[in-house]
Amino acid sequence: MPHTKELVERLVATHGSGRQALLPILQDVQRNEHYISDDAMVEIATQLDISTADVYGKATFYTFIDTVPRGKFVIRVCKTIVCDMHNKSQIIETLENLLKIKVGETTLNRKFSLLYTNCLGWCHMGPAMLINDDVYTDLTPDRVRDIITFYKNKN
Ligand code: FES
Repeated sequence: MPHTKELVERLVATHGSGRQALLPILQDVQRNEHYISDDAMVEIATQLDISTADVYGKATFYTFIDTVPRGKFVIRVCKTIVCDMHNKSQIIETLENLLKIKVGETTLNRKFSLLYTNCLGWCHMGPAMLINDDVYTDLTPDRVRDIITFYKNKN
């Protein structure tokens, strides 16, 4: 894919071509393309002169990096114990109803994906979720409704 090739070339120019550049490159490809495709993995491996298996290993190790296509806005709700005790299930139920998808799915218009994640480090303000890189805490069904309305209107 020419677009992916150019993107990876740009990222190598920014982050360098050493091994330490692998994670930032993966994160930036994900930010641009919403997941790491097979083509992107091959391109990264070629440009960093490492094996595709290395790239795949790194990409699949981090739960924040997706190797299947996701929506433009990826919602990750903390499923760890403190948020769980603070009504995380009510938050999930609200999101599932608003988006008409289940956890693990992506809306048909590819705007939202709904996923679980482990502790986000905001336990004292749980339940917590991430939408792409933005964290939302002290969630209630009403607050979730407002947040999703905001993202639905966002391009
Ligand atoms: S348990 Fe949810 S943020 Fe830590």
